[in-house]
Formats: sequence, C-alpha cells, structure tokens
Amino acid sequence: MEEELEKLRQKCLNCTKCSLSKTRTNVVFSDGIPNNKLVLVGEAPGFYEDKSGVPFVGKAGQLLDKIFASVGFSRQKDVYIMNTIKCRPPNNRDPLPIEKEACREYMEAQLEILKPKIILICGNVALKSLLDVPYGITKARGKWFNGPYGSKMMPIYHPSYLLRNDSREVGSPKWQMWQDIKEIKKVYESL
Ligand code: URA
Repeated sequence: MEEELEKLRQKCLNCTKCSLSKTRTNVVFSDGIPNNKLVLVGEAPGFYEDKSGVPFVGKAGQLLDKIFASVGFSRQKDVYIMNTIKCRPPNNRDPLPIEKEACREYMEAQLEILKPKIILICGNVALKSLLDVPYGITKARGKWFNGPYGSKMMPIYHPSYLLRNDSREVGSPKWQMWQDIKEIKKVYESL
C-alpha cells in the first residue's frame, strides 16, 4: 500500500495537467496514516497547505484535528487525509470543473489503493466530486451512502464552515458535527 501510494505521489508531484500547477508552491498529496478503515477527503489546499505541502494545517485543519481527537482519532494512528484537488486554487476560489476533472485520477487512484471501509466526504466540493446527489452538504451530512469498493461514505461539514458558525446549541452545525463524529466512531468500532 505505502509503495503504491509513494509511486502515485511522485507522479502527482510532477503533474502539469492543469494550470494550477503554474501557481502552486507545493502539491498537497496527503497526510496521516495509510490504512483501509478511515479516509477523509477534503476540498483543496489553502494558503498554509500550499506553503507546507500538508493538507489541513490551517485553522480549519486544527479544528478538524480537535473533532477527531474528541472521539480518540488522530492522523498519527487512524486517519488518512487527502483532498479532491491537490494544488491550491489562487485566492482559495472554488476549483473549476476542468481542474477537478484533471485531478480526479489522483483521488480515485488513492481510494483504489487504500480501499477504505469508511470515506468521510468533507464539504461541498468533495460532495459534488464523490456523490451524485441533487442537494448540498446541509442535507447530505450525517447520512451513510454506499461508496466504491464496498465502502460506506458519510458527508460531513467542512471545518471552515464550523469556524463561521460558532454556536454549539442543539441543532446547530457544531452540534450536528458532534452527532456525526460519534456515529462515525461507532461504525468504525464495529468494523
Ligand atoms: N481545506 C480543505 O478542504 N483542505 C485542506 O487541505 C485545507 C483546507
């Protein structure tokens, strides 16, 4: 698994399939532990990810780590983290369809190598890339969907959305995320 991922990473580091390759500082391939149980697919690298080459290291990433830690998960031992798009779109704009198409082969190849039992779809960009549903993340979150290789996929809110919605009241996005991560942990433990 590690060897195959490394081969793919090398290919991705040299990718010039779309124009994001001209403006990137680093390709952001993955972080965390390669494993066949739990993978999170985010959207695209931001400023800090582009600088460091590591996904989810900015404020949203720190919140994501806290959410994982609340149920005992960590990048060091349980979760493989990757993005739909491997290079930062300038000024963090949404990736264009042509960029998503160009990058799709890397995301699909990562998932094929890992064959994870649980795929967390983090935010709307990942949702649109991985699931064909006629609604957005607010409606899709917290539900299990059948994914590739017999996996279960759950869309969850992007942590940057939670940073903009600070309430923890019952029914708030943060409260919903707490329900979702507990459900994910429960299913993870049953695998
Ligand atoms: N947001 C994402 O979706 N991915 C990152 O790597 C950073 C922020």
